[in-house]
Amino acid sequence: MHLEQTSSQGHGWDAATAEAQLVALMDGEPDALANLANAAALIYETVPNLNWAGFYLMRGDELVLGPFQGRVACVRIAVGSGVCGTAVAEGVTQRVDDVHVFPGHIACDPRSNSELVVPVRNGEGEIVAVLDLDSERLNNFGEDDQRAVEKLVEVLRPRISWDQLAYDAR
Ligand code: SME
Repeated sequence: MHLEQTSSQGHGWDAATAEAQLVALMDGEPDALANLANAAALIYETVPNLNWAGFYLMRGDELVLGPFQGRVACVRIAVGSGVCGTAVAEGVTQRVDDVHVFPGHIACDPRSNSELVVPVRNGEGEIVAVLDLDSERLNNFGEDDQRAVEKLVEVLRPRISWDQLAYDAR
């Protein structure tokens, strides 16, 4: 019997529950910053073996640090630079098994060994942010994890008023 899967499943974690929690957290709350802060905290607690989870926001022509959980991180990342900037430049998810062999990887935390970066688009299809997940484990993110995290981003993106975050503080 073929069962239609309505939600992606992370490898060893409950992606469907995380999607439902994300929806509930943002329900009726219009503040984009508050919603992204809670989303970062939920994802940090949900996806296994993370040492950093958060958002970099497109501000002007570069990425700027947004809400996150983990150690202090670099603030500005140019498009095309590191794993995050490459995700924006190429417009596709970057799943990196070993960041030390990724050309131009930005080592915010030397303990990080693998990374998953998902571009986030607004309703017009423009990239407005990336979701960046880091792990101390090599190969922490499998295909299932990638699909599940991309699904979380799909749940998140129409619920955030990205225009609230689109200022340039320089
Ligand atoms: N390693 C990232 C930079 C951000 S930190 O991991 C939080 C990169 O290469 O883009």
